[in-house]
Amino acid sequence: MSRLDVFINRMVSQRACLDYAVDATKGMTGPVFELGLGNGRTFDHMREKMPERQIFVFEREVASNPASTPTEDQTILGDVRDTLPAALERFGPTAHLIHADLGGHNLEKNDAFARLISPLVEPLLAPGGLMVSSDQMYFDDLREIDLPADAVPGRCFIYQR
Ligand SMILES: C[S@@+](CC[C@H](N)C(=O)[O-])C[C@H]1O[C@@H](n2cnc3c(N)ncnc32)[C@H](O)[C@@H]1O
Repeated sequence: MSRLDVFINRMVSQRACLDYAVDATKGMTGPVFELGLGNGRTFDHMREKMPERQIFVFEREVASNPASTPTEDQTILGDVRDTLPAALERFGPTAHLIHADLGGHNLEKNDAFARLISPLVEPLLAPGGLMVSSDQMYFDDLREIDLPADAVPGRCFIYQR
């Protein structure tokens, strides 16, 4: 499988999992968290699909396309190792949808980082809430659920409290 195939599978899976999670959490209250702004493509998709919901974006350095840059009050700037614990103090366990796409090209590093932040992400999710991740996560009390039909296994993961 070429790198192009892997990239396309990741994008298709991100969209499929996000659309599934948006639908499955419709009507739930509480904030939505986007972990890793990057270019802002998934943030843009999320705000288009959920214009009525409050989205906060966690990013250490904003360098997104101006067309998909969150406002200052939507942005939680800093390293997620610091900002996730601070978000727990600020919001408590209220997020009903968390999307994480924090990884780079090094799969081993991505996996180590996912292990590190799993215990920081887990307490933020409200009962019934969903967490969508590009990397496998390591949660104690969230269960992994089946992917929607058009997502590619291994390219996206969905967890539920
Ligand atoms: C792959 S990009 C996200 C791409 C995004 N989903 C999109 O559609 O454009 C990953 C982002 O996560 C951010 N990131 C990685 N590690 C981080 C950390 N420890 N704290 C905060 N942001 C981090 C990077 O700066 C980068 O912007």
